[in-house]
Amino acid sequence: MESSIPPDGSLEGVAVARTRIAHVDGRKGLALLRGYLLPELAARLTFEEVAHVVWAGELGTAEQLRVVREAPASLTAEERAAARALARGRTEADALAAAIVLAEDERTAALTDPLAHAAGVQARVPAVVAAVAGRETPAPEGSYARRALWAMGGTREDAAAVRALEVLLNLESEHGFAASTFACRVAASSGASAGVSLCAAVATLSGPRHGGATAEALGVLRAARDSGDVERFVRERHGRKQRLPGFGHRIYKVPDPRVPPLRAAMEAMGSAPLLPVAEALVAASRPLLEPKGIYANIDLYGAVLLDALGIEPSQFVAAFALGLSCGWLAHWREQREYGRLVRPDSDYAGTAQRALPAR
Ligand code: ACO
Repeated sequence: MESSIPPDGSLEGVAVARTRIAHVDGRKGLALLRGYLLPELAARLTFEEVAHVVWAGELGTAEQLRVVREAPASLTAEERAAARALARGRTEADALAAAIVLAEDERTAALTDPLAHAAGVQARVPAVVAAVAGRETPAPEGSYARRALWAMGGTREDAAAVRALEVLLNLESEHGFAASTFACRVAASSGASAGVSLCAAVATLSGPRHGGATAEALGVLRAARDSGDVERFVRERHGRKQRLPGFGHRIYKVPDPRVPPLRAAMEAMGSAPLLPVAEALVAASRPLLEPKGIYANIDLYGAVLLDALGIEPSQFVAAFALGLSCGWLAHWREQREYGRLVRPDSDYAGTAQRALPAR
């Protein structure tokens, strides 16, 4: 029988769950969170407001948003030391995959109210990122975006810079069935805790085909800038059949709808040194890539922003996790509510049954 499973192992086009959280339609360029347009939520709301929509399905009241904003956000000295110990001899992304379990402590795990629980875990994520990087815990009174900026060692602190990062975090807060989200749900289906399900998610995010794409996009932006001739740089790469990181998307075959609000937030910052290079790359690649449905993706502009904020590429996976942990927590709960272990079937393509030779 003809198999409907893609032979490349990607599960592309295969629906693996039913969700009420987000919907992405790549042919229409549509991304919805709980029915709202993601680009509009990202451009108009704070991260805390977006998180409430993702977790609870509705815009929060003042009291609900207070629960999100005021969740305790610090780690104990032992927790910080544990995160630091994991960082020794490992990349920051690998260390974060293990250390993220610290985002849920005993007190948070005991919270029975779903909103308080998600807010409690989320609030500790910047502290875990900071601890892995050997930085102090971000001051608790700042917004989530400000604490995230501190945690990653950003060098700009002005309001426009914090807001631009907040728009990126909003855009990355939830985007349907990313591989890391699926991994989180599989862990959740076993009844695993939120903390350890986040480990599964960050582990999946850490590879170059997922969270690592932003660092590769930065590399290409710098190489294009240094070449002195972006058009020739693009033509030569194309001639060598080398892909341009920061372009193309598994789902979107039309312009990525997350790009315009991010670009607008960056323009408001005044200076983003690699923005003109990104625009030149887009212009030069248009005739070669757009006929194939390949457009600049959020990683290209994410790399421009993180660079402008003074954040090192070693932190780019953390940047993604700081946003996407919001969606992971919603998926963790949604999957747990099914109360059944994920146990899919597979197409067996191996050797048919045979007898073990006699000896
Ligand atoms: N640069 C140049 N050409 C490309 C690119 C690219 N970035 N992406 C696809 N193409 C070309 C392919 O070579 C192919 O050309 P052909 O038909 O002449 O052989 C055609 O476009 C279609 O390619 P597919 O592999 O079928 O496209 P797909 O949609 O499966 O690929 C992917 C998506 C993997 C993201 C790809 O675009 C890519 O490798 N991009 C670069 C890495 C990147 O930026 N990843 C981040 C994705 S976004 C995110 O994770 C948030």
